[in-house]
Amino acid sequence: MAENWTPSSWRQKPILQVPEYPDAAALAATEATLASYPPLVFAGEARRLKKHLANVAEGNGFLLQGGDCAESFAEHGADNIRDFFRAFLQMAVVLTFGAQLPVVKVGRIAGQFAKPRSSNVEKQGDVTLPAYRGDIINGIEFTEESRIPNPERQAMAYRQSAATLNLLRAFAMGGYANLENVHQWMLGFVKDSPQGERYRKLADRISETMDFMKAIGITSENHPSLRETDFFTSHEALLLGYEEALTRIDSTSGDWYATSGHMIWIGDRTRQADHAHVEYCRGIKNPIGLKCGPSLQADDLLQLIDILNPGNEAGRLTLICRFGHEKVAENLPRLIRAVEREGRKVVWSCDPMHGNTITLNNYKTRPFERILSEVESFFQIHRAEGTHPGGIHVEMTGKDVTECTGGARAVTADDLQDRYHTHCDPRLNSDQALELAFLLAERMKGGRDEKRMVANG
Ligand code: PEP
Ligand code: CO
Repeated sequence: MAENWTPSSWRQKPILQVPEYPDAAALAATEATLASYPPLVFAGEARRLKKHLANVAEGNGFLLQGGDCAESFAEHGADNIRDFFRAFLQMAVVLTFGAQLPVVKVGRIAGQFAKPRSSNVEKQGDVTLPAYRGDIINGIEFTEESRIPNPERQAMAYRQSAATLNLLRAFAMGGYANLENVHQWMLGFVKDSPQGERYRKLADRISETMDFMKAIGITSENHPSLRETDFFTSHEALLLGYEEALTRIDSTSGDWYATSGHMIWIGDRTRQADHAHVEYCRGIKNPIGLKCGPSLQADDLLQLIDILNPGNEAGRLTLICRFGHEKVAENLPRLIRAVEREGRKVVWSCDPMHGNTITLNNYKTRPFERILSEVESFFQIHRAEGTHPGGIHVEMTGKDVTECTGGARAVTADDLQDRYHTHCDPRLNSDQALELAFLLAERMKGGRDEKRMVANG
């Protein structure tokens, strides 16, 4: 076990992004109630995810992580969960084919409620109120009342996470995730997309592969892996009182696990080595993500790796890089070189969302071309450094929203007002998310063909 660590040792450390609850006794009572509730995930599942991620770290897999920037109470419902899962599975199939590697599927879901904010306050006209910090903390409505942190919301977030996870498990194991279904949905997307011709080649090859498998007798009846899928959950471990309440000892191993989700990550604003969020995460055994933004120095990264993964276990730590399309070339190589020089085992993942946010017509948005450009640079840089571009981390929804500009069905600045529903950052809509997967799969395939040509002389 990590030295001098307990689930509450973070309380002795400096902490950023912490809400001010007016009623400390009510907060403590909610935390005590949560501590008596069942865990949301089981430690054995977190260990299985870690094994899958170890494969990715070794170059034998690809991580797809995605979902809402912030889940909301108002949008909790079966349709949203289903539509997200449907879009996500299609991305996974396309990427599996592109990478010719197993894709590890991790949702930003069933717990992604707490948000770090750049400013503690929000101003509208001449009214200034505390910032919205996610539905687990306060309300998005711009009123004094709604912006007061309310501990009751933690119990609501727990229940919503449990219900969401329950449906996702049913979808993953109960037949909905059947590869044949996913394949048909994908063909529907290709047929309807204005860029469909471009994607058809890859889609046809997937169809041929499916026909071939059927011909030799590999079907979902005799191969459970074709009708079931491994799906994991993740969120930013920002609200540490909630995380502490759901931190449990695993009776099999005697180790501490966060049971609020399979994987949790540390945000770019709360990754100070001597602060509370790093302290909490070092003591739990789940796979951990660390957001790496432009201000992260190589030495500080190595120190964080020492703290979070002292045993240098592959699969424990995923570095989620979010530099922005113009800054990735200047920042990623220096971090890769430091990590390689010290022989640290990590998964390199690219979050092309958080460094590419701009404002258009008073809406926060992200141009699709910049998102694609950051991921492309990420792949090129890894190819040049001889390291494995292990995954992507995206904010997306299964709905047809207009939050990011661009894509085949080009969302324009003027379209943003039509269906701008996010509670926090702008998400790729389902078409944009799937397009991103197709464009990346094309490039991965290109990269493989090149390698093969070199190998064959
Ligand atoms: C996020 O993932 O929603 C987020 C706030 O990211 P970051 O910590 O990288 O800014
Ligand atoms: Co976000």
